[in-house]
Amino acid sequence: MGWVATPELVAASCNAGAFGFLALATAGPDEAIEMIDKTLELTDKPFGINFHMFQPGAEQIVEAVISKNIKAVSYSRSPTADFISKFKKNGVICIPTVGALKHALKAVDLGADALVIQGSEGGGHTGSTPTTLLLSSVLQQVEVPVIAAGGFRDGAGLAAALAWGAAGIAMGTRFMMTQESPVPQVTKDAYLSAKIEEIKITKKFDGLPHRLIFNKYIQKIDRSNPLSLLLISLSSAWRYKQLTESSFKDLLKAFFAMLRGDDLTISQSIMSANSPAIIQKAMVEGFPNEGAMPSGQVAGIINNIPTCSELIMQIMREFELSYTRFKEIGEAES
Ligand SMILES: Cc1cc2nc3c(=O)[nH]c(=O)nc-3n(C[C@H](O)[C@H](O)[C@H](O)COP(=O)(O)O)c2cc1C
Repeated sequence: MGWVATPELVAASCNAGAFGFLALATAGPDEAIEMIDKTLELTDKPFGINFHMFQPGAEQIVEAVISKNIKAVSYSRSPTADFISKFKKNGVICIPTVGALKHALKAVDLGADALVIQGSEGGGHTGSTPTTLLLSSVLQQVEVPVIAAGGFRDGAGLAAALAWGAAGIAMGTRFMMTQESPVPQVTKDAYLSAKIEEIKITKKFDGLPHRLIFNKYIQKIDRSNPLSLLLISLSSAWRYKQLTESSFKDLLKAFFAMLRGDDLTISQSIMSANSPAIIQKAMVEGFPNEGAMPSGQVAGIINNIPTCSELIMQIMREFELSYTRFKEIGEAES
């Protein structure tokens, strides 16, 4: 989760018993390496990193992951098979996130060790298949462990996912709504007050299906025509360049790679290049009504901001209750 899964949040989640992924896809290479070092200072537990091969300095990040013995990498736009085999040769576990069955099969073909399947309920970029259906269909066709994501927040959900055959659950929105999450309180409050039906998918924001809280700003983007979209994106172009510290050349390189890789139209690609600045307005600067808030629908039924440790303990208590219930049902029937 760009600008959310910081060293502090990742370390707190790992220290509480989860396995956190550091968000490096929105960082330049020097910042990414500093973030890895900071996380290593804050926890002695294993953690992973999330990145993508189109970002400026991706190869330096790959080298740092290997040289610093980082346990796992997560990505949704797959590196080439060569990079994956380099990770694997160096003991780095490859756990891509996929939102569709065909992507799951391709990821396994390319060498994934495990998969996170994210159902359409999930926050940020997301597919169109609900978690339960995606999980079932992927489990039927792959041999690697499958972790379920999209819509989870509690121990009952964990028990249900395990009963379904998943190896575990992954949660984004729930961890974003914790004490250690760096998101400004005013923005966390906006998440707390969002309703399930206000957290919807639009392709207009960055050209890809993106689940966000439909505040006034996103409603405006969702209703806009290509020309007004272009104007919005150009106005934040300069800011994006400054914030990522990437050179203009790098920005162009990423832009054309996106064009080639995802077959986006030009206006969609410009939106895509500018979306980070709009997300930061809400998630970093604390202006929830003027920026974008990627969110899972689950935010609509989350009503507290616990610490990571409180959250994990609560989930395990709830899981025990569900497990006991399963056993009682089994015993009553035998
Ligand atoms: C604010 C936010 C930012 C996200 N950013 C990323 C990202 O940069 N890369 C990524 O692979 N997934 C990203 N995701 C998706 C999460 O990693 C996770 O798969 C998803 O949140 C799971 O669904 P849930 O929100 O229902 O828990 C993001 C999700 C949120 C809520």
